[in-house]
Amino acid sequence: MIMEKIYAVLPEKLGTISPLIYGVFSEHIGGVIYDGIYVGEDAKAENIHGFRKFIIDKIKEAKIPLIRWPGGCFAEIYDWRDGIGPKEDRPVRINWWTVNDHRYEPNQVGTDEFMDFCRMCEAEPYFAANITTTTPLDIRDWIDYCNSPAGTTTMAKLREKNGHKEPYGVKYWGVGNETWGGGGNMTPESYALQYRRYAEIMHNTDPSIELIASGASGGDYHWTQDLLKTVNNTSFMDGMSFHHYSNGKNEDPVNFNEEEWYCLLGNANRMQELIERHWGTALSYKEEKRAGLCVDEWGAWHRGGSGPSKGFNLFEQQSTMRDAVLSALTLNIFNNECDKVKLATVAQLVNNLHALFLAGGENCIVTPTYHVFNMFKAHQGAEAVRTIAESAACTDGLPGISVSASVKDGVFTLTAANIDYKEDKVVAIEVLGGKFAGKATVITMASDDLTAHNTFEEPEKVRPITKEIADFDGTLVLPHGAVVTLSAKLAD
Ligand code: AHR
Repeated sequence: MIMEKIYAVLPEKLGTISPLIYGVFSEHIGGVIYDGIYVGEDAKAENIHGFRKFIIDKIKEAKIPLIRWPGGCFAEIYDWRDGIGPKEDRPVRINWWTVNDHRYEPNQVGTDEFMDFCRMCEAEPYFAANITTTTPLDIRDWIDYCNSPAGTTTMAKLREKNGHKEPYGVKYWGVGNETWGGGGNMTPESYALQYRRYAEIMHNTDPSIELIASGASGGDYHWTQDLLKTVNNTSFMDGMSFHHYSNGKNEDPVNFNEEEWYCLLGNANRMQELIERHWGTALSYKEEKRAGLCVDEWGAWHRGGSGPSKGFNLFEQQSTMRDAVLSALTLNIFNNECDKVKLATVAQLVNNLHALFLAGGENCIVTPTYHVFNMFKAHQGAEAVRTIAESAACTDGLPGISVSASVKDGVFTLTAANIDYKEDKVVAIEVLGGKFAGKATVITMASDDLTAHNTFEEPEKVRPITKEIADFDGTLVLPHGAVVTLSAKLAD
């Protein structure tokens, strides 16, 4: 075992960690919505209003605060009017992804159903507006339908007729998605002009909403630069997104070796640089006050794919300890950069890329990634503090230990991932500017086999183990490839 050290510098506050960093993305793609979150009221799987109870309960347990919907690429061909009114009258449409999986969009989950799901999950919605194939007037009507006070407009009355008298108050609205690709194939300048056009109308419809610009793919800093130059401080912008997916070498979600472990995690660790450089660009355009970064798609994309549906669900992939460590590494970066990252939604919620759940028929299980979100929840709304890990770096510029820490109500929370593929580590934690009060809780998720994953047959193969410690002396064990949470009371 290697002995290492982590300092937490309590007086050095980094900012408040927005709970919205812990959001998820749920698109109408493959098995995310149908047979994912939604099974229908007559299904054998336990459900509330047709939505899986298991998923609702687990989302609440992990305090997932935000759900992005309805896409993704799907958003850019979505007409929100298709998804309201009597279900039997709703049209069946070609989905954005029909070309890949030959599945059609039945529109059984629309605005009212999705809002019901969010309410049951105690999460806020984050809608992506279609600016490729619908007009600013269509989006005005959608905002009107969602947010106008009861009994005021024709849209508010239509919402009431559909069974929902009170407004939903949808606050977060994306203005397009991946507008450099599926969302209109635009240049940053042409998107910026569209942004100005749509944002003006959207803000005017409901000035209380927050608008998020569709940002760059990964490290396309020119996109950010040219977008901000043309937006030129003239339009309403409350956030700017970018997407970062991490690819491995052999693209297989489950079978990987040491080299592939480091390759994928090295790729994920680019998040640090992406945040710094997109933020730096925003600063140079004096946009930092309003253009908080919104990483609204992130996670591992194993192109070798597949989980329980054996390829039926497009982009479905299994999730191992490697994906758990990737989640911890990314969430630690977000915590440490909480003055820059306003919100984030992992892609995607269920039966897809970097999912928190795998489901099919009566089966539904959590993945190791779900456990990481649950293990990190104490950071939400807490004050982040600087940490310094004295730990030998791994290959590919990866830190030996990924770490972040925060304080809320006198409780210190530290989350760490041992990035090392082979070596277990013992860490001495020193809090500078404070001391531990005695009692602590340590939650460890580890497995000797880093390819371990949960299946319908073995749903708890990978799960965290909680240990209560009466007199914590600052020593923490980090098994190789493990994710660990320490919660400890601080002395007054
Ligand atoms: O998450 C799957 C797809 O990846 C999304 O629809 C799109 O935005 C991205 O390219």
